[in-house]
Amino acid sequence: MIWHPGWWIDPVIEKDLLAMWNQRHAQAEGLGQVADVLVQNIHLAKAGCKALDLACGRGANALFMARAGLKVTAWDLSHVAIERLTAAARAEHLSIASTVRDVITEPPEPGTFDLILVSYFLDRELAPAIAKALKPGGLLFYQTYSRAAVTDDGPTSDRFRLDDNELLMLFDSLRPRVYREERLLGNTEQGWRDRAMLVAEKG
Ligand SMILES: C[S@@+](CC[C@H](N)C(=O)[O-])C[C@H]1O[C@@H](n2cnc3c(N)ncnc32)[C@H](O)[C@@H]1O
Repeated sequence: MIWHPGWWIDPVIEKDLLAMWNQRHAQAEGLGQVADVLVQNIHLAKAGCKALDLACGRGANALFMARAGLKVTAWDLSHVAIERLTAAARAEHLSIASTVRDVITEPPEPGTFDLILVSYFLDRELAPAIAKALKPGGLLFYQTYSRAAVTDDGPTSDRFRLDDNELLMLFDSLRPRVYREERLLGNTEQGWRDRAMLVAEKG
């Protein structure tokens, strides 16, 4: 994944988080990249199920799920991101319920989604609400940066990077079905590095 220089300024030190994200989304080319966790595991999703892309950015993942026939809701704090996603969905004649929403102050309601996708967004205190928001049998798809990394991609602060096996711990109320975190094992020039992915099922 290629990131623009300065993309990962630590949000903690930003005075205005919303202005920062709006600016980044206005300057970025394209709609972002579809997360590997989604590309590799979309076949696990129930056909036509109700999916949420939480902190969706410009919506590459939401569009991917909509193209796969899922009923997609997409939320982000940034109105610029939501405008770009809405325009892209309209251009493809895809129906996506894209809304500006602060997911920290307004997390998803309990038992409302069959699938929740979180890609490159990490707020540990939100994990219980995300797990609760899944319907029984629902699936969480999560992918973000890990602290063990071979490149300097991604945020500099550990606050926004996962510790060893942390996704499994944050979502220990769910049953892991797919988990990948290679850390610094073996030949670090190969493999899927710098990140962790989890697909987990609500019992
Ligand atoms: C690194 S981007 C990832 C975007 C997208 N998920 C992707 O993988 O391309 C993080 C996103 O989180 C959004 N965000 C940050 N804080 C948020 C909040 N409190 N509520 C909703 N979205 C938030 C930002 O606007 C940004 O689009």
